Amino acid sequence: MLNVVRSLAPVAGDTRGQLVVGQISLTNFRNYHDVRLNIAATPVVLTGANGSGKTNLLEAISLLVPGRGLRRAALRELQNQKSSEPWAIAVDLSTPYGALHIGTGSDPETGDGDRRIVHIDGKNVRGQNALAEHMAMAWITPDMDRVLAEGPSARRKLLDRLVYGFDPAHNGRVHRYEKALRERLRILREGPADAAWLKALEDEMAQTGVAIAAARRHMVQQLRTGIATTTSAFPRADLELKGLAEEALENQPALLVEDSLREALARTRGDDAQSGTCVCGPHRSDLVVIHRLKQCPADLCSTGEQKALLIALMLAHVRILTSIRQMPPIFLLDDIAAHLDDIRRASLFEELRTLGTQAWLTGTDTEPFASLLPHAQHGVVEFGQVIWL
Ligand SMILES: Nc1ncnc2c1ncn2[C@@H]1O[C@H](COP(=O)(O)OP(=O)(O)OP(=O)(O)O)[C@@H](O)[C@H]1O
Ligand SMILES: [Mg+2]
Repeated sequence: MLNVVRSLAPVAGDTRGQLVVGQISLTNFRNYHDVRLNIAATPVVLTGANGSGKTNLLEAISLLVPGRGLRRAALRELQNQKSSEPWAIAVDLSTPYGALHIGTGSDPETGDGDRRIVHIDGKNVRGQNALAEHMAMAWITPDMDRVLAEGPSARRKLLDRLVYGFDPAHNGRVHRYEKALRERLRILREGPADAAWLKALEDEMAQTGVAIAAARRHMVQQLRTGIATTTSAFPRADLELKGLAEEALENQPALLVEDSLREALARTRGDDAQSGTCVCGPHRSDLVVIHRLKQCPADLCSTGEQKALLIALMLAHVRILTSIRQMPPIFLLDDIAAHLDDIRRASLFEELRTLGTQAWLTGTDTEPFASLLPHAQHGVVEFGQVIWL
């Protein structure tokens, strides 16, 4: 899990312990030219027509944690098409551990838009993982609506993203595992197989694979706790993690599971060479989500029920993040009102207030947010500008 390095003591007298984006400036970012917004700790509701810039604003915030943001966009796409000046995002952040200024943007030195730089309190930091020391974030986007129905690969990616929210090193592990997996398959297909190189790749796959499986298992256990402590109207989900390594870790030490995976990979070389796929390893694992009350797998639930299950999972994730990081994460909920009935919407708003997270919610219409607006700040987005009501 993330080793949170804290150089600052918690601020005396700050009883809320909140993480708050107090000010955000966007320069040449997507359809924003030069915008500065002052924001309070309460939920932020952004409404506006299709294409006005609501998701773009949430995407900018999502770049304040390691990774490629909530759209997983290539860096070049972020550059405002009408400007050649580099894009930049600057944020004044208030945390339980003190105030912080974070800046990120396209590197003006390289000029090709393919590198992003990160500044924390005016100092250039190497890589993005330092952001995770100060920031915690979760998001739900319309792209995730079908994730529970789409199949093992999408659900696995969702789970890996949740792990990544706690532990930025997880991304590196998954990347190394997949690289070794591709290289092993290439050698098996193209031959002749170099035994020493194959063994080295399978060693890498066994080590990183078991670390990945262990992190996923830990995450699922945490999610179960998060789900058990919910009081909201969202459906309870039962979670099962299917996968040889994940299941073996239930009653075997990691080193033994590593050995088993290594042996299985060596044993299946011939089959893998023929089929062109790798039959064992955590790249085949699945997170099975079951609607507890209906005893129905999520992929057989209705669209609205799937969305509700997804929100329930994300709320559990936010609860766990809050308890581990000792501060509620920033929570981005893009186009959230779609598919939710009145009771679930009211329950979501209530839960967001209870969690004390600075939530950012978007939608085209104001009406679905009516019950939240007395406790929120409401901005209307128009052509890359935000007008506060
Ligand atoms: N790099 C860019 N430069 C300039 N404009 C861009 C860039 N990338 C996206 N846009 C434009 O930004 C606009 C706003 O997009 P965004 O996805 O934020 O809209 P939205 O308010 O979330 O709309 P919806 O309600 O449909 O989800 C779109 O018209 C899009 O074409
Ligand atoms: Mg949008």
